[in-house]
Amino acid sequence: MQTVTSIKELRERLQAERRAGKRIGLVPTMGNLHQGHLRLVESAVKNADFVVASIFVNPLQFGPTEDLERYPRTLEQDQEQLQAFGCDLLFAPQEQEIYPQGRDGQSFVEVPGISDLYCGSTRPGHFRGVTTIVNKLFNLIQPDVAVFGRKDYQQLHVINRMVEDLSMPVSLIGVGTERADSGLALSSRNGYLTAEELAIAPALYATLKTLARALEEGASDYPALIEQAQNDLEKAGFMRDYIHILRRSDMLAANADDRELVIIAAAYLGAARLIDNIEVSL
Ligand code: PAF
Repeated sequence: MQTVTSIKELRERLQAERRAGKRIGLVPTMGNLHQGHLRLVESAVKNADFVVASIFVNPLQFGPTEDLERYPRTLEQDQEQLQAFGCDLLFAPQEQEIYPQGRDGQSFVEVPGISDLYCGSTRPGHFRGVTTIVNKLFNLIQPDVAVFGRKDYQQLHVINRMVEDLSMPVSLIGVGTERADSGLALSSRNGYLTAEELAIAPALYATLKTLARALEEGASDYPALIEQAQNDLEKAGFMRDYIHILRRSDMLAANADDRELVIIAAAYLGAARLIDNIEVSL
């Protein structure tokens, strides 16, 4: 697997593959890869002839008081794992290569409405940063297919909207969440948890499962169910951010007629903010 850091090298390398008629797959990441990312690479290998991964800790999607500086950077280890899982090319640029106009001078792409809800409400500007970098990566790599994790449920929905709204010629694949035996969704940010917090963290998914079961059994007082779930999380040691019961199609508040639902949650535990979700069909 070759690693390139410049746009020029990236384009030259991809031109040769495209001329050879290869179907290009992209796995965008911020590095510090875990098993969840490697499942994305496996999916890309299955669905494309030439797989590109990107590693770029995108400053535009971090708020001013967030963890940009301490976000784990483990390039060598990531390269080894990507190579072992069949990735063909790694694009690992520096910030100047991606944002030569600086963080504030950069043009951006924004999906209105949904980008300001849920994680977008707690993290203003986050999704604008995500759609801007993903759009840029799509323009640079021109993938036939791009693979994202379903753990970032709202992110995948926002990127889907961007692709549809702007008629981007790329197919998106969403890959299911990879979990530890405890049920905890794998995330690079789990590394911020102490041993004690790691023992508490699985309560997030356990709480979502309990809520999903209640819905399947016919409970319909959504505000009361959510309040109960928030209390359970607080008892376990979390600080609340949000829990929402949504319609899957547009990620807006579900009502009594909706059958295809998703419950999304975010909660703080020590230095980490964890997110998770579960789909429910009634
Ligand atoms: O999911 C992530 O790791 C990031 O949000 C992404 C899609 C790589 C954009 O920086």
